[in-house]
Amino acid sequence: MTSLWLASRSESDAPGIATDPFEPGARYDEVIVGAGLTGLVTALLFARAGRRVAVLESRSIGAVATGRSTAKLSLLQGSQLQKIKAHTYQAIVQAYVDANTAGQQWMLDYASTRGVPVQRRDAVSYAGTPGGVETVGREFRLARSAGLDVRLVDTLDLPFETYGAVVLPDQGQFDPLDVLAALADDVRALGGVVIENTRVTGVRASDPAEVRTSRGVVSGARVHLTTGVPILDRGLYFAKLKALRSYAASYEVPVGKAGGAALPQGMYLSVDAPSRSLRTVPGAGGGAPETLIVGGNGHPVGRAADTQALVDDLHEWTALHFPGAMPTHSWSAQDYETPHRVPFVGYLPRGRGRIYFASGYDKWGMTNAVQAALTLFGDLMGDTPSWAKVLHHRVTLPAAIGSGIGANAATGWWALKGWAGALAGPATDALPMPAEGEGLIGRSGFRPTATSTVAGRTCQVSAVCPHLGGVLTWNRAETSWDCPLHGSRFAPDGTLLEGPTTRDLRV
Ligand SMILES: Cc1cc2nc3c(=O)[nH]c(=O)nc-3n(C[C@H](O)[C@H](O)[C@H](O)COP(=O)(O)OP(=O)(O)OC[C@H]3O[C@@H](n4cnc5c(N)ncnc54)[C@H](O)[C@@H]3O)c2cc1C
Ligand code: FES
Repeated sequence: MTSLWLASRSESDAPGIATDPFEPGARYDEVIVGAGLTGLVTALLFARAGRRVAVLESRSIGAVATGRSTAKLSLLQGSQLQKIKAHTYQAIVQAYVDANTAGQQWMLDYASTRGVPVQRRDAVSYAGTPGGVETVGREFRLARSAGLDVRLVDTLDLPFETYGAVVLPDQGQFDPLDVLAALADDVRALGGVVIENTRVTGVRASDPAEVRTSRGVVSGARVHLTTGVPILDRGLYFAKLKALRSYAASYEVPVGKAGGAALPQGMYLSVDAPSRSLRTVPGAGGGAPETLIVGGNGHPVGRAADTQALVDDLHEWTALHFPGAMPTHSWSAQDYETPHRVPFVGYLPRGRGRIYFASGYDKWGMTNAVQAALTLFGDLMGDTPSWAKVLHHRVTLPAAIGSGIGANAATGWWALKGWAGALAGPATDALPMPAEGEGLIGRSGFRPTATSTVAGRTCQVSAVCPHLGGVLTWNRAETSWDCPLHGSRFAPDGTLLEGPTTRDLRV
């Protein structure tokens, strides 16, 4: 499944985003691992300060979360403020809003300077059921208390029933690949390099830090892990983050005389179940016909019974409310939730002050990636933003500890379930050949195996995640093997796609 953004770049005349050659043994000031939004903004900030920068990307620019997001650049983020408040305290809510405001403003200024199209839109958090009305009210009050100019409305221009909403005017939306392409160009123009197809497999916190990759070793005075979840186990952050996957699809919708009403123009997110996110994308040249994006149906990675059913459900819901809607692309992606719902940004324990990371944006990375990059840059240049100081010194409250314990208990249960199911299941030799698009778990002695058939090719690989031994589950929508413990994902042939591990599956 490919996102609208990634597909339209490869299908259009827009220039591809170039990659630089890998130079074994090269020495840089800042090595940045991962070319998503966090990595490229961090790289640009350091490159502007005259640092020699290398961005190493295991796949391609934007291939993972950023190129698959719905790219709303908003300070009203569903019911995020009350989730943060429930796990922290008011000063943290305020610092979070201030951090995101700085991230949003940086991005708006950057896009305007670089001519990246941004559509200004109202952000809307709506109640899709009567049960969501109180959540809307709480978000309104918290947003107001943090200085956001929100208002409450009773009705919306949506073609389905809603029960009131909180609205923040004049937020933004864009094509995330446009932003990444501009950032990569600017990093290069300042002497930096952005190198794709280079997986970092380990970092030694020596002076300079040694960065081992699939193509050789380079070194850097500092290393920044902007890889979604950190790829090093120091600090056990993989266990503190919850990997959550969700779905999106784009649609051509008939509007005007022969079709229905014009598409709703806000950026909408339900505060209750079923989760639904909506926005539009302008047609070529910024005009009609617009494309509708609908997202939702999230779940912890590797733990959904049938991922394809979740995509089908999005299509059915959209067809019901936007008659004649024709899907053009559907895709999914994952992001990471922290126990207190505030991103982790800073130095990695036992990294001797040479290894830094940023993660845990809870699906609000368009503003949070930028605030994280501003934090990493400010901390190292001796100019930490005031909101970052508050976020750094946050005290962990019992609610956040409880949330972490609950998440780890669930992980333990999935570890047991995976192994017990695999060992009680059929031997690999006794399995039928998987049908096209299907994957089956078997066992070869005490070793779980994963067999799948995709595009006519049958592959058999180990079903044991090389990170910490979780037994993988089949993701029918993405035709991938996904780890229910900490969210690593693999292609049918065992190639690593994303997650905390740095290794492929054994064949
Ligand atoms: C379905 C969905 C919709 C979303 N919609 C929105 C939205 O509307 N608004 C919003 O604000 N946020 C949204 N988000 C969140 C947002 O997309 C993410 O928070 C953000 O893109 C994360 O950026 P990143 O740079 O940290 O990670 P990524 O974009 O995932 O970049 C990390 C990069 O690191 C690379 N990498 C990983 N391991 C290695 C390694 N070992 N060596 C080298 N490279 C490596 C990966 O290949 C990847 O390219 C959404 C998220 C999801 C899942
Ligand atoms: S991602 Fe940790 S065990 Fe699989």
